[in-house]
Amino acid sequence: MKILTISILSLMMTLSTQAQNIPVYLDESKPVEQRIDDALSRMTLDEKIAVIHAQSKFSSPGVKRLGFPDLWTDDGPHGVRPDVLWDEWEQAGQTNDSCVAFPALTCLAATWNPQLARLYGENLAEEALYRNKHVMLGPGVNIYRTPLGGRNFEYMGEDPWLASRMVVPYIQGLQSKGVAACVKHYALNNDEEYRHQVNVKISDRALHEIYLPAFKAAVQEGGAWSIMGAYNLYQGVHNCHNATMLNKILKKDWGFDGVVISDWGGCHNTDEAIKNGLDLEFGSWTNGLTAGASNAYDNYYLALPYKKLIQEGKYSTKELDEKVRRVLRLFYRTTMNRQKPHGFLCSESHYATALKIAQEGIVLLKNDRNLLPINLQTTKKILVVGENAIKMMTVGGGSSSLKVQKEILPLDGIKARFTDAQIDYVRGYVGDTVQSYNGVTVGRSLYETRSQAELTAEAVAKAKEADVVIFVGGLNKSDYQDCEGHDRKSYDLPYAQNEVIEAILKVNPRLVYVNISGNGATLPWIKKVPAVVQAWFIGSEAGEAIASVLAGDVNPSGKLPFTWYASLNQCGAHATGSYPGTWREDYKIIDEEYKEGIYVGYRYTDSKKLKPLFAFGHGLSYTTFKVGKATANKQVMTTDGQISFTVPVTNTGNRAGSETIQLYIAAKQSKVDRPVKELKAFQKVYLQPGETRNVTLTIGSEALSYYDETRHDWCAEPGKYEALIGTASDLLPTKHTFQLK
Ligand code: BGC
Repeated sequence: MKILTISILSLMMTLSTQAQNIPVYLDESKPVEQRIDDALSRMTLDEKIAVIHAQSKFSSPGVKRLGFPDLWTDDGPHGVRPDVLWDEWEQAGQTNDSCVAFPALTCLAATWNPQLARLYGENLAEEALYRNKHVMLGPGVNIYRTPLGGRNFEYMGEDPWLASRMVVPYIQGLQSKGVAACVKHYALNNDEEYRHQVNVKISDRALHEIYLPAFKAAVQEGGAWSIMGAYNLYQGVHNCHNATMLNKILKKDWGFDGVVISDWGGCHNTDEAIKNGLDLEFGSWTNGLTAGASNAYDNYYLALPYKKLIQEGKYSTKELDEKVRRVLRLFYRTTMNRQKPHGFLCSESHYATALKIAQEGIVLLKNDRNLLPINLQTTKKILVVGENAIKMMTVGGGSSSLKVQKEILPLDGIKARFTDAQIDYVRGYVGDTVQSYNGVTVGRSLYETRSQAELTAEAVAKAKEADVVIFVGGLNKSDYQDCEGHDRKSYDLPYAQNEVIEAILKVNPRLVYVNISGNGATLPWIKKVPAVVQAWFIGSEAGEAIASVLAGDVNPSGKLPFTWYASLNQCGAHATGSYPGTWREDYKIIDEEYKEGIYVGYRYTDSKKLKPLFAFGHGLSYTTFKVGKATANKQVMTTDGQISFTVPVTNTGNRAGSETIQLYIAAKQSKVDRPVKELKAFQKVYLQPGETRNVTLTIGSEALSYYDETRHDWCAEPGKYEALIGTASDLLPTKHTFQLK
């Protein structure tokens, strides 16, 4: 017994000596903040400077001497981008980097299903882990301010509440697997054209009520580990080193403890970068070599120029230590996190998620005479028209461009589903000729020598014979057609699409228009086309998802995350002449004042009593729903309390389906100008035919608040409010009045 006790004691002493030998920064039993302090105290000036700027296109160094691995970032946000060369945008030509393309974030937002956002994040993280990426450059939550916005497809629509509810679970899902989100582009990055030069002037109220809430939710509720500064300027200073945006709002007011990463090439000034809150610089001189030095990275604003200023005594290491602290925190959350799972690429589960999100996000905009779903018994001949039926949409559009293992094209999906019908295809118009993007070829030749007249004639001749015509059109991620770096030049559909549709309608009115895009467009023939489906850029499973909705295997339940304007003058940014701003005399800066203020999307059309083509929150189903009368659990609420509204929802049709119940708040009296209504809660319910469920939506007083510019804070005024409840922003059949005391 004595011998046993002695050996246990000596074993414990050995273990404790070993534990004592582990430096604190490597000791996983110690609190992270203590480990950060320890690591920081061991780092040299050179090591500190090294970790706050890039060493290649997408990576920054760890601290080799101390055992911190390099940090790898990658785009984002719809799949894991293929590897590029060390210093170049060109592809590295790897064979292990073909990924699953998940639907673009507009489609995710259109599901109005936060659970799917969580799944999206988790699945994307698994793909990233397999590829050894630690930071995914996304999600993007810039607000859909104008339908010309080139990158709207990468974002979550026009409404701050919807975007907030969808971005939080995406981030939580991603980070639950040890992969950092890098929420972008913070903030006001609503112009792609001249994006480095646009200086946004905006009221504090519009900033806080419209453009910041999704970022704030990403930080405070999602717990985002990093955020990407935007290219544009705010109050005359670039957002990647803007003290108000970064030091004041993000870090001080919201308590962000993560890393501010510059957008690639978004950093312009060493002093501002040091003082104004940037932590990690990427992409300056974007080919990484143009500074003419053997190692351009040493010449980054936060590299040797910063070190020199410290050595000369202009700066102490106070700011540097703060940046390094944040970067180390990111290391512990990602590269140093030994608990993170192993990833896997292109798994069946990832394809299943991509398909599910695509199917739930597709929006049935119009369906007269129940043309959809296509009757499988009576439909013998289907004509598919349109270039977008055969064009890969995962390739192109800018940094979100992917190299996919598979992408089912709409035509192939339709052929695979409608096996009993004869499927014919004509292109109808000549649009995109891009054969490859960022080293990924689209596979199918879109080369065409025939004239437009010949193409139209061919479409018309074949349409005459068809039982139904499916026109797959829209935008296509070419320059100016939903693409980074350029906004659209026109709100109309490009190429000869409208002309071909009109010509087909003359011979066959049984036309289903499937629109591929991340934006609305004028649809001049809308009254004559019975069925319209918004099918977004939906990734790897596009064709299967579209076909499953057209065939009725899936009952559509997507809802528009933006107002589909009939014309541009229904949009506040255009109607007020604010967009795209005015060049200063020196042609260096464009001043763009957001004169529409808080009146973005439905807030503008409501205030001007305009009828858009399709309202925010609109989306049909193959079944019908009835929303009953709303009741509330109280008549008077207090500022620190909550109020709940309950409505019975019944599936009155004969198919199972989902409906999204939306609650909007209208302030009935206020010191300030208030929108007619604002979305403040929603819930999606799945109902069998004949089934009724009570849906309860709860809000707190923050849902009644506006941003008070004099107090620089949110304010919930006592008084009368109305809760409007229904299934779209223009279909709110039941309301309930209540008081805030
Ligand atoms: C884009 C970012 C992207 C980065 C890296 C920039 O041009 O604006 O969204 O993450 O490039 O590819």
